[in-house]
Amino acid sequence: MTVLGIETSCDETGIALYDSERGLLAHCLHSQVDTHARYGGVVPELASRDHIQRVLPLIDECLAKAQLTRADISGIAYTRGPGLAGALLVGASIANSLAWSLQCPVLGVHHMEAHCLAPMLEPNPPPFPFLALLVSGGHTLLVQVAGIGRYRLLGESLDDAAGEAFDKTAKRLGLPYPGGPELEALAHNGDPQRFRFPRPMTDRPGFDFSFSGLKTAVVNTLATAPTDQATRAAIARAFQDAVVDTFAIKVRRALEHTGALHLVVAGGVGANQALRSRLREVAKAAGANVAYPRLAFCTDNGAMIAYAGASRLQAGERDQAVKAVRPRWPLETLQPPEEMSLARDGD
Ligand code: KG4
Ligand code: ZN
Repeated sequence: MTVLGIETSCDETGIALYDSERGLLAHCLHSQVDTHARYGGVVPELASRDHIQRVLPLIDECLAKAQLTRADISGIAYTRGPGLAGALLVGASIANSLAWSLQCPVLGVHHMEAHCLAPMLEPNPPPFPFLALLVSGGHTLLVQVAGIGRYRLLGESLDDAAGEAFDKTAKRLGLPYPGGPELEALAHNGDPQRFRFPRPMTDRPGFDFSFSGLKTAVVNTLATAPTDQATRAAIARAFQDAVVDTFAIKVRRALEHTGALHLVVAGGVGANQALRSRLREVAKAAGANVAYPRLAFCTDNGAMIAYAGASRLQAGERDQAVKAVRPRWPLETLQPPEEMSLARDGD
């Protein structure tokens, strides 16, 4: 089955073709960074308008890369949620129209499930069950994954998502949008001894996170600190160390609690090298393997949507009618594909 994946949940138009026998055939991405940079963050209306212009040309580009035509598409997967409503609607409308014209099945995919499954696109994919740390611009989730659609939420952020904390802190440090990678670059040469910020919620049991207090600690430090480059770099470093430490403590605890032998780290913040190497150590010490998607598939992309969609479409699941997009959509409410294909098409 050759599945076209369409990702339009936020500020990236991602298109890919995944074949259930041959693997990933091609993927294309258009980032809207230039469109939103002057506003310091994503402007939802501009995101929707840009997706409208990009999706069809990117699909053609992707088909050409894979040396296929539209007639070769045998299923379509698109991001149904969570995400920006208008941006999601663009992908959903095009996916449904294209599926209707090609007479092929279509399926709306959960964006965080797709992030969670992104390491399956790499060599030596992790087997189920595994523990997943999903860290993106909108979500921070620690999830016990028994299989596709079998998710048990262990912990989540009670306020800002990890990526949001990176972006907001970066903005305070005067860095351009998108802040996460910029902050990581600035932190690289920062003196790790000069500042120290709290590791939120690590002194109490449980797996939840909170990053807004950490952001405030940075703001308070910035208010009195000198503004030279070395100071800004040291503050960025202390912020990143606090986030990485917090994740290391909670992931170690969750590995112990669940006895998981495999850890998956995915989502945009999973591209952070300091976090990646630290969690590699944590997993090793716990006797677990850690799986990361390649950097390009940590952040939003079409390949993970095509893969997640193909997994469910292959099992027989499809949208029986045009579904409403789900800007908010809790991951734990998903069901495995087998059960879904038998269930009434309720929502
Ligand atoms: O998964 P993603 O591309 O989009 C969402 O689904 O939200 O994640 C984007 C988030 C942004 O907040 C971005 O600043 C953050 O991931 N991010 C990073 C890095 N690369 C992207 N945060 C820290 N370090 C990075 N290298
Ligand atoms: Zn994402």
